Amino acid sequence: MDLNIKVNEKNHLDIGGVDAVEIAKKYGTPTYVIDENRIRDNYNRFYNAFTKYYSDFKVFYACKANTNIAVLKILEEEGCCVDAVSPGEVYISKKLGFSGDRILFTGNNIKDDELKEVADTGALLNIDSVSALKRLAKIVDPDGMKISFRVNPMVGAGHHDHCITGGVMSKFGIMDSEAVEVYSLAKDLGFNPVGMHSHIGSGILDPEPFKLAISSTMDIAGKVHQEADIEFEFLDFGGGIGVPYTPTENTVDIDKFAKENVALFKDKLKEYKMNNPTMYLEPGRYLVADAAALLVSVNSVKQSYRKFIGVDAGFNTLLRPAMYDSYHHIVVANKMNEENTEEVDIAGNVCESGDLFARDRPMPKIDEGDTLAILNAGAYSFTMASNYNTRPLPKEVLVSNGETIVVREEQTYDDIFEKQTMPEHLK
Ligand code: LLP
Repeated sequence: MDLNIKVNEKNHLDIGGVDAVEIAKKYGTPTYVIDENRIRDNYNRFYNAFTKYYSDFKVFYACKANTNIAVLKILEEEGCCVDAVSPGEVYISKKLGFSGDRILFTGNNIKDDELKEVADTGALLNIDSVSALKRLAKIVDPDGMKISFRVNPMVGAGHHDHCITGGVMSKFGIMDSEAVEVYSLAKDLGFNPVGMHSHIGSGILDPEPFKLAISSTMDIAGKVHQEADIEFEFLDFGGGIGVPYTPTENTVDIDKFAKENVALFKDKLKEYKMNNPTMYLEPGRYLVADAAALLVSVNSVKQSYRKFIGVDAGFNTLLRPAMYDSYHHIVVANKMNEENTEEVDIAGNVCESGDLFARDRPMPKIDEGDTLAILNAGAYSFTMASNYNTRPLPKEVLVSNGETIVVREEQTYDDIFEKQTMPEHLK
């Protein structure tokens, strides 16, 4: 089993050298627990795999996966760059020490004042449409300004339809057939188009779609290089590398993945007689998913038509199972040595029937008061949480070298209502 699960001598779940049951006792639940060393390991494994085969390589962390400021700072320290998709992500990255040249902004349907706001930060803009290019030319001084374009490589993949971002149904990127024209237009407008970007989707364990996407993006880049006379400084192949969520899925063999994709990349550089641009990749999930767990407590055990294990979090806290029907492995943190004896539904505390973390899940016998850990909760988990049902966003705790540190306080009720105002006539 490739899931990141460690057990201590008490048969409790271990997170970064600390007993998860003790963390739940100390800080209460629900709490997201983030393992600093795991993030560092994930980053270095990824970075070293690629630089082994192509030294001019950079990792742009897709920070939509997790924007806790400690997570961002850990990756900043490692030398990572950032893939940002909103002015807010650019704002926090800059504030934490990422310089503009370490931020690539890949917006989609961005309005003019946001384009201007991001351009002013010095982040590099990755343009998604001709419309955005023309609007940008009116709101900034294009003279020599470096930009890049997102292209649709006509390859898409992902763990769910919502997460496939290439192909004819995708709203992202410019068409391959218009690429030469768009790069030429950018030059005519005075810009300096130095990059090309593609991203095919998210949660992909199969290496094949990546190869197709690299190949197709390189064909588009090669044509643009030759016909629009563009010398690329970088080529960015997006993110999407999956991680195992179920006990039967395997980790991507990252050395093989890097070796094969770099070989393809180099062949295409040669074929199109391109200089050696920097290769970028934008992993989000790969860097942070398995570095956090959501700890929850069992409030109620109900034998109804089915057996329901009720916990003190819901899809407001972790949306992925309800939104994508995603599997998250769940363990009983205080009973790690016990065999599975029954199949249960693990349900949240939101007032909707779809609020389930698991259906028919084989588990050991669970009692009220047990601590469950929902694994792989480091990516697209806190960042997709909400205040639905007027529940505060939970706490986040960082485990760093055997110490636990609160890196986000739980919200208060007043935090939730802070920005609302009562109209005069209702006072
Ligand atoms: N680059 C771009 C332009 C992206 O849009 C994304 C993710 C990434 C990189 C990083 O993809 P990753 O390596 O994390 O797969 N909420 C969904 C995932 C949505 C991903 C959106 N874009 C989920 O919970 O599975």
